[in-house]
Amino acid sequence: MAVRPVVLYPDPVLLEPTREVDEVDDDLRALVADMIETMHAEPGVGLAANQVADRRRVMVIDLSAGEEPGQVKVFVNPRIVEEEGSQAGEEGCLSFPGIFEVITRPMRVRFTAFDLDMNPVEEVAEGFYARAVCHEVDHLDGVVFLERMSPLKRRLALRKIEKLRRRGEWTA
Ligand code: NI
Repeated sequence: MAVRPVVLYPDPVLLEPTREVDEVDDDLRALVADMIETMHAEPGVGLAANQVADRRRVMVIDLSAGEEPGQVKVFVNPRIVEEEGSQAGEEGCLSFPGIFEVITRPMRVRFTAFDLDMNPVEEVAEGFYARAVCHEVDHLDGVVFLERMSPLKRRLALRKIEKLRRRGEWTA
């Protein structure tokens, strides 16, 4: 296992949809193991494969950010099938270091996916879990949280990113 470098905005791999996984092989298992290690090293509560420059539709989530054992969830080919309600809360992203903004998300989502044995799973996520699922599924669809901000907040965030890039401080 190894920590992989996290890709930063505006790398194109973050802005293109990922590809569905047809089968779970050793290479995918190695990717997932590295994604979990990378998420915990940062630390973060979620990571999408394209954030480590891999274009497969896989995400990992650990709402404890590695603080509690057994909390890691792995989802292959996740799809949100139902959304309900809304919540506003602060969000960050490992591909946007130092950028935090209030984002409105559904309060509850139902989603389908496969586990690492390619068994179908279906879950209902609420609150912070729903926020994490929506954020990572967005990544897999090539959508970054910048696009969920109001136009004003987006402009401010882009200005801050540009400043950091010029200073050479836009690094994971
Ligand atoms: Ni993110």
